[in-house]
Amino acid sequence: MTPMSNVSVTKDAAPAAEDLVVLKNVDKHFGALHVLQDINLTIGRGEVVVVIGPSGSGKSTLCRTINRLETIDSGTITIDGKPLPAEGKELARLRADVGMVFQSFNLFAHKTVLENVMLGQIKVRGVDKKAAEEKARSLLDRVGVATQADKYPAQLSGGQQQRVAIARALAMDPKVMLFDEPTSALDPEMINEVLEVMQQLAQNGMTMVVVTHEMGFARSAANRVVFMADGRIVEEATPDQFFSNPRSDRAKDFLSKILHH
Ligand SMILES: Nc1ncnc2c1ncn2[C@@H]1O[C@H](COP(=O)(O)OP(=O)(O)OP(=O)(O)O)[C@@H](O)[C@H]1O
Ligand SMILES: [Mg+2]
Repeated sequence: MTPMSNVSVTKDAAPAAEDLVVLKNVDKHFGALHVLQDINLTIGRGEVVVVIGPSGSGKSTLCRTINRLETIDSGTITIDGKPLPAEGKELARLRADVGMVFQSFNLFAHKTVLENVMLGQIKVRGVDKKAAEEKARSLLDRVGVATQADKYPAQLSGGQQQRVAIARALAMDPKVMLFDEPTSALDPEMINEVLEVMQQLAQNGMTMVVVTHEMGFARSAANRVVFMADGRIVEEATPDQFFSNPRSDRAKDFLSKILHH
């Protein structure tokens, strides 16, 4: 033991370098509704966290606070050691660091697929047009829609649109990707093509927070399952632990409903 090793004792409160997203004592209300209640959640670099829970439990709100689409009443959220900026350029940069994929794709309808994936790179990251196009094409290729580059979103299937949305988020080189029920609006035959892209991202080490009802994905891709109910994190466990041995009655009840129907 060197004398220096004592130093670590005094650093307890600082987030570890491997902690990428840290929520501490986060509270949020919508009027009288206490939608997030004392949320404490740390997401490590490269970790895949699946968030599940009944409708209205606060899953989407939780995601939206992480890239500040929603403000919080109290507590702190830090990304890579930095608190969330309130507004302006800093906030735009943060949003680029935190990629978000929604249930409803949210592509720019009046831009081509290629333009959708180029735009943020140019406007937020200051990348030149040529480099942005090169990267966009390579990402579209990676998610399997390279041949659709010149079409408009409405000309694509839902599964293709969602893969473009993923490519668009990835084009910003995000530190973390948030997915809020990315397959819920898709026809059944398109769900897997999107889950496969997400599965690959997870394998390549992307840090991901995924709200989903796809329990197969949770089992195979998640490092951790977070179960929410009534605005609280009720359980956190590995997928194995959670699915085979949920501890709370809320989780048991929820699982029996989604797994046996
Ligand atoms: N902008 C808002 N204003 C007021 N109440 C809201 C707002 N957004 C969400 N809520 C309420 O907050 C609660 C949590 O909503 P949230 O969308 O986070 O739940 P969820 O877990 O994502 O549900 P679902 O599984 O149905 O998507 C719900 O009761 C909802 O009605
Ligand atoms: Mg939701």
